[in-house]
Amino acid sequence: MAVHPSPVPPIRIDFSAEDRRWITERIDEVLANGQLTLGKYGEQFEAEFARASGARHAIATSSGTSSLEIILRVLDVVGRDVLVPADTFMATATAVLAAGGRPVLMDSDPRTMSTTREEILRKLTPNTAGVMIVHIAGIVTDAMPDIAALCQARGLWLVEDAAHAHASRLAGRHAGTFGIAGSFSFYPTKVMTSAEGGMIVTDDDHLASEARIPRDQGKASFHQNLHVRIGSNWRMSEPHAIIGLRHHTHLDEMVAARRHWAARYDAALLGTDHGVCPIAPPAACHANYYKYPVMLPDGVDRQALKHWLRAEHGVICAGEVYEKPLHQHPALEHLATPDLAQAEYLCARHLCLPMFASMTEDDVARVLAALADARGRGLLG
Ligand SMILES: Cc1ncc(COP(=O)(O)O)c(C=O)c1O
Repeated sequence: MAVHPSPVPPIRIDFSAEDRRWITERIDEVLANGQLTLGKYGEQFEAEFARASGARHAIATSSGTSSLEIILRVLDVVGRDVLVPADTFMATATAVLAAGGRPVLMDSDPRTMSTTREEILRKLTPNTAGVMIVHIAGIVTDAMPDIAALCQARGLWLVEDAAHAHASRLAGRHAGTFGIAGSFSFYPTKVMTSAEGGMIVTDDDHLASEARIPRDQGKASFHQNLHVRIGSNWRMSEPHAIIGLRHHTHLDEMVAARRHWAARYDAALLGTDHGVCPIAPPAACHANYYKYPVMLPDGVDRQALKHWLRAEHGVICAGEVYEKPLHQHPALEHLATPDLAQAEYLCARHLCLPMFASMTEDDVARVLAALADARGRGLLG
């Protein structure tokens, strides 16, 4: 086994010394004044996020999971079917279940890791209330305008689970703003973080004001103990808002850096004989490169390859976007249908290369050299 001074990690979470000082000063302030939840920093974070996403409203929440559930509760999916991609995180579907709906799984588009208008048409029934699109890896499919038009024509709402897609755009339009609402996650591994947290964006005034009610235990307002709806504790605390507000100031530069490293990978891997095939975003998509997924040739053992890359080159490709589609998890196997082959294939056959804003030329060169070595030794088919 080769010895490497320091591995190339799959991701890194960056807060500079100045960021940390800014954050701790303000956490000290809210600890001193006792305004620890639903305060001015949450409001500032909401205002900044709305402005940057081109949405009229943003509502900060405790997580991307709670953002989704709040949206679905406001839309009222009780007893209704909601179309959800099979290739997504558990929370997309469990939010539907928690809000009283029934997730119906859609197959994937191998070109974009999203889904297609045709697949939505195949899965629609009179009981369908709406469609959830997930921008896997930060890629916004160029089918979004057609999907939005289809939903509008059929009287369905469109919700984007944009947990991966901070600052991703399609033809200048931000992820999260194609339908009635979008949901973001600030889980630590995301493109930006608030440690834990989520955000709803919407242009719909009614949804925006309604979403604040379940977020805070269904109370008519923060200062009233009158519960007018069923909700939960889905508030964002002020320390979380402070972290998110600061990290958000770096979002554009972090995405620019990710796009720079992605372009370096592209130059070496797209259309070449490296043995792996990047899933390139459509031309109109300004992707944030939350992940840089590549497809492996058939027959390559992904686990063995990852182990070899780490052992021989110190290159850690830790996580897939999703290793299995939802219906292959025991908790959701009841959602399985026989027509989800593309999602199964995508989940089983892709690999994510290291990707984070503070990568270096040396990191990229080491990843590419490792892949070239794997190719040379016949490990990539
Ligand atoms: C696609 C998707 N949806 C929802 C979530 C849930 O977000 P959170 O972890 O903030 O609850 C995630 C986060 O991992 C996600 O990747």
